[in-house]
Amino acid sequence: MELVGIKHQNFHITEILFGVLVLGFLNLRTVQCGSDKNLQGIEYSALSCRKHTASLVDFGGVPDGKTSNTKAFKAAIDKLSTLAGDGGAQLVVPPGKWLTGSFNLTSHFTLFIQQGATLLASQDESGWPLLPALPSYGDKSSPGRYSSLIYGTNLTDVIITGNNGTIDGQGKPWWEKYKKGEFKNTRPCLIEIVYSDHVQISNVTLIDSPAWNVHPVYSSNILIQGVTILAPIDSENTDGINPDSCTNTRIEDCFVVSADDCVAVKSGIDQFGIKFGMPTQQLIIRRLACISPRSAAIALGSEMSGGVKDVRAEDIVAINTESGVRIKTAIGRGGYVKDIFVRRMTLKTMKYVFWMAGDYKSHPSPGFDPHALPKIENINYNDITAENVTLSASLEGIQQDPFAGICISNAEIGLSEKAKKLQWDCSDVAGVTSRVTPKACTLLPEKEQPMDCPFPDDKLPIEDIPLQKCTI
Ligand SMILES: *[C@@H]1O[C@H](CO)[C@@H](O)[C@H](O)[C@H]1NC(C)=O
Ligand SMILES: *[C@@H]1O[C@H](CO)[C@@H](O)[C@H](O)[C@H]1NC(C)=O
Ligand SMILES: *[C@@H]1O[C@H](CO)[C@@H](O)[C@H](O)[C@H]1NC(C)=O
Ligand SMILES: *[C@@H]1O[C@H](CO)[C@@H](O)[C@H](O)[C@H]1NC(C)=O
Ligand SMILES: *[C@@H]1O[C@H](CO)[C@@H](O)[C@H](O)[C@H]1NC(C)=O
Repeated sequence: MELVGIKHQNFHITEILFGVLVLGFLNLRTVQCGSDKNLQGIEYSALSCRKHTASLVDFGGVPDGKTSNTKAFKAAIDKLSTLAGDGGAQLVVPPGKWLTGSFNLTSHFTLFIQQGATLLASQDESGWPLLPALPSYGDKSSPGRYSSLIYGTNLTDVIITGNNGTIDGQGKPWWEKYKKGEFKNTRPCLIEIVYSDHVQISNVTLIDSPAWNVHPVYSSNILIQGVTILAPIDSENTDGINPDSCTNTRIEDCFVVSADDCVAVKSGIDQFGIKFGMPTQQLIIRRLACISPRSAAIALGSEMSGGVKDVRAEDIVAINTESGVRIKTAIGRGGYVKDIFVRRMTLKTMKYVFWMAGDYKSHPSPGFDPHALPKIENINYNDITAENVTLSASLEGIQQDPFAGICISNAEIGLSEKAKKLQWDCSDVAGVTSRVTPKACTLLPEKEQPMDCPFPDDKLPIEDIPLQKCTI
């Protein structure tokens, strides 16, 4: 105990000198030497560590679950943003219930949500500012969209982490109002990060989001690790993690229970997504556990008009989920889904193991191009085990635009008592299979020589990004 105290004392003396010289009046932990022993000594891993530390309490935060902390978050992050050029800052949210509306993050910044701390999202809609539509989604589908609870745009080096602290979206009123068709605007996500580079979201639990949980958009170099996402399976569009027009993303060790896709890979929609033209590419999804009775473990689309390529998914476990990896698209989407690699998927109680649909009909805005055909090619699955399955595969491409280069190997599918007679329902698709039970459709003939569908051996840049050991 003493040793730790002394170490921190020294640390704080240098920090105090710095604080007095440069920061003067700023009410930071760096100048409030050791006021809260709970904050000291917690270790965590991150893309970057921070020189300065503050607690939400220092900015008037009150953890009673009733007092709004929106102003405290704003005051804290406004002040800490001034340290971006000086080693950056971490804002600690200590144990307690912190009611808050939306707030904006800043660069070279870490939000650390301690175990026992819960951010409680305000249920007052006025606490969520409206933002204009994202350019790859157009501006006609709805007048605007609510800012996420935690929002960041045009940032570099931003981290949301903790030792399993919680963000509670308190989404029930949003789901109920949505079900009644009472929203003109798009409901908010819990975390949305736009036009940003070097983003980490790790070791936090997200519950009851009003809609999607984690939505990185137009961003790159993203690590999402150890995130638990829980929402009732009858809530509305509570997608887990939706990388959208992002490059070089690694999603791993996440557990998602939700009413919509556990991971949904997107890149804008129809004429807006085609014009914006920013794909999601270089994406790793591994060690994902998913429960989603109404949706997919991993969905590619249906918004894929900027393209989706080089996706590597492995070690996926899904239980009581509608489908495994699902591709959804439609005439008018344009774009592509290609170079998709999936291996080691374990599925239990599934409606569909393989599901591809070229007739996903929703077109939110008029004016989509009926000649814009999506290109679906080079889709690979290897080592798939499934139990208690209703339908092995529903693979429906588009006439004049067949889905090509589908490869499925070593798939062992156990059927449920209610299994359909026709197990492989295929049209307008082309490819091969090897060692698949039950036997695939004639459009996916069995290779004479047994083979494994490919999976890349090279590493994506996000796999080599070093993590540092940081302390609070
Ligand atoms: C998340 O927590 C796990 C388990 O405590 C730890 O091994 C891992 O390094 C943490 N990752 C990050 C990025 O914080
Ligand atoms: C966050 O920033 C956006 C501009 O990027 C702004 O429109 C919005 O009002 C800000 N949100 C809050 C809560 O201040
Ligand atoms: C954010 O970055 C995008 C793309 O570079 C740019 O178009 C936009 O104007 C920037 N927004 C702000 C608020 O700086
Ligand atoms: C984090 O908390 C959630 C919710 O309480 C729990 O389900 C999960 O197991 C916890 N994860 C870790 C790594 O402790
Ligand atoms: C098999 O799936 C059905 C739903 O299709 C479910 O009701 C049943 O409990 C599952 N059986 C097992 C053994 O998991």
